[in-house]
Amino acid sequence: MAEPAEARLWGGRFSAGPAQLAADYTDSLAVDRRLYREDISGSLAHARMLAAAGIISAAEGRAIERGLAAVGREMDAGTFEFQPGDEDIHTAVERRLSEITGAAVGGKLHTGRSRNDQVALDLRLFARGVIVALGESICELQAALLDQARAHLGDIIPAYTHLQRAQPTTIGHHLLAYVAMLQRDFERLRDAHVRADVMPLGSGAATGSSLPLRRDMVARELGFAAVSENSLDAVSDRDFVVELESACALLMVHLSRLGEEWVLWSSQEFGFVELPDAYSTGSSLMPQKKNPDIAELIRGRSGRVIGDLVAMLTTLKGLPLAYNRDLQEDKRGLFDATDTALASLAIAAALVASSTFNVERAAVAGSDPAMLATEVADYLVRKGVPFRRAHEVVGLAVRQAAAQGATLAGLGLATWRAIEPAFDADGLAALDTARALRSRTIPGSPGPRPLRQAITRATSALRRNRGWVARTARATALTRPAPG
Ligand code: ARG
Repeated sequence: MAEPAEARLWGGRFSAGPAQLAADYTDSLAVDRRLYREDISGSLAHARMLAAAGIISAAEGRAIERGLAAVGREMDAGTFEFQPGDEDIHTAVERRLSEITGAAVGGKLHTGRSRNDQVALDLRLFARGVIVALGESICELQAALLDQARAHLGDIIPAYTHLQRAQPTTIGHHLLAYVAMLQRDFERLRDAHVRADVMPLGSGAATGSSLPLRRDMVARELGFAAVSENSLDAVSDRDFVVELESACALLMVHLSRLGEEWVLWSSQEFGFVELPDAYSTGSSLMPQKKNPDIAELIRGRSGRVIGDLVAMLTTLKGLPLAYNRDLQEDKRGLFDATDTALASLAIAAALVASSTFNVERAAVAGSDPAMLATEVADYLVRKGVPFRRAHEVVGLAVRQAAAQGATLAGLGLATWRAIEPAFDADGLAALDTARALRSRTIPGSPGPRPLRQAITRATSALRRNRGWVARTARATALTRPAPG
């Protein structure tokens, strides 16, 4: 027989505590203790509501509030002593509260509440806060990318398809692609916030409460936009976790692709980017190496975050209504996904900001005349040649040039005209990289004008993002205990 563990808060019905083995297997304190601020905040709002609704006396409400504030101070200071019977953060806070206030008062805090709606509330408070933090970090990375994009707006680099040189573009245009991805990530998080911003307390264990709880008051106190619609759904709903993890997973996929490009660009083969010493690593064996480990780890950690999302979906898929203990497994993955995304955003911003572009080398690669084949085809289109024929003409020219060991620009006018009489002397002017970029005037393309406009739009979007972060942080700040 295993040793019995310490008595539990729910021990009344039981003649003995759980076996130590059972307690070790079911306890979640090691993971959920980081929710203590959310837990205390939710309990403060609940206690104020109980007093306002006359379910507990005003004096009891004040005593609970003071007690919770004391518990919060102990947690903040790291002096809180967890006991073997504290199976999760909720029981730890309540146990200590009762020690401070006496059980006659502390024992009233959980009136009209279950850990099932309590934990749903705590996790929603956490989700709201971390979404704001993620939004802020996305802004920082967007700002770093925008700074580099502004500095290298017109600096030429190849655009690739199939990782083969395709057409010339600019470093600014390339970096703005990531700003656009991150903008979608920001919007997904903002959207996930809408569903997280719903207050579940009052759902009880499964079917609410017979006590006259004032749910709207708790929601207002905690800055929630709405109260949950259905108590069964509210205690078993983790859609907001899935949505947040999904947003993190896709964000990490974007960072992973950025990481991959930094790995390629910093290689000798590309040589477009010089890694800063502070954000690269050496080899224990090869003294000449400067490795892009940070970019590789961003890429590597994306796999774990995708795993967190899949794990949560898998946990949910077979659950009958309403609360099931399986749901306790929601936290580890959510913490991992959001911690990883936050850390990756911060390091990616530092990496982008401190990398230097080898502008000359990128320009040499980006000015490869072979990449101007499409320009000549477009030139012939303007001369009235059907695009399919123009494509064929340039293909033939590429073949002839290759046979002569020449570039497209090196083919004489006579050769071009022999292939296609519509080709005039001005066709040779199409074989110019700067001109090719200047001719790109439509929105979304790397011409100087659309690029400047894209920078302006991205800068305004960033300003709006920051506005949302500041407003939402204020509206959803955790309730602090009244001083004293
Ligand atoms: N630690 C639990 C969790 O995270 C709290 C809820 C426990 N509820 C219960 N009925 N055992 O889900």
